[in-house]
Amino acid sequence: GDDDGGSTATGTQGADLALVQDGTLTVCSDVPYPPFEVESPDAPSGYSGFDMDLMQAIADGLGLQMAVQDVGFDPLQSGAVLAAGQCDLGASAMTITDERKQNLDFSDPYYDSLQSLLVPADSGITSIDDLVGKTVGVQQGTTGEIYAKEHLPEGANEPQAFPSDAELWPALQAGNIAAILQDLPVNQEHARSDPGYEVVEEYQTDEQYGFAFAKGEKTALLDAVNEQLQALRDDGTYDEIYAKYFAM
Ligand code: ARG
Repeated sequence: GDDDGGSTATGTQGADLALVQDGTLTVCSDVPYPPFEVESPDAPSGYSGFDMDLMQAIADGLGLQMAVQDVGFDPLQSGAVLAAGQCDLGASAMTITDERKQNLDFSDPYYDSLQSLLVPADSGITSIDDLVGKTVGVQQGTTGEIYAKEHLPEGANEPQAFPSDAELWPALQAGNIAAILQDLPVNQEHARSDPGYEVVEEYQTDEQYGFAFAKGEKTALLDAVNEQLQALRDDGTYDEIYAKYFAM
């Protein structure tokens, strides 16, 4: 296409980008994680959400198709899935951390985030300090899990780690856990979808999400993704996608 301003570094269907599959950006994620990644039969890749729409725009800019693989979060954040060469990159609301940087390269940050506590509205829990004798649920391998371990009051049970939000959120609804500690936008999405639940506390952890790459192996692709990200910020596409999923 003749898109104004957003000219790409490669223009050659990613020939020099060392892709898992020629002509396709193969993206690993952990789904569902609304509003960042959800299944969406009508979307070209079969997935939508802030991450997925942004990544689709990046793939478009590179002249590539996008294919998504749902691999689970823990093996993605550990670097295992990307080191094994299963995907070109990870797009999974993943916080850039020093620990993860030992095994992964990250794109420029694309979203600012923080932690939060979601509880049943009638629970009487208004803070993390009310979790004495109770169990908080977290997603395994996440910054929320780390935050819970470091900040739960004495007398609280060990946090229960679930592989996916697909098990975590139903566990709260079933009353098997007292609260969920995880990224604010996701807890807010649950509270919006079910008025029986509310976010009672936010924790300013100053997190930033980045797209993740096998360490040292995808530098040309990483540069190309950063270039596309900047082009999408410059031409307003980033703001359009942002406005679709978040109140401005
Ligand atoms: N931002 C948090 C972290 O990096 C949670 C991300 C979970 N993402 C997901 N798609 N399940 O640890």
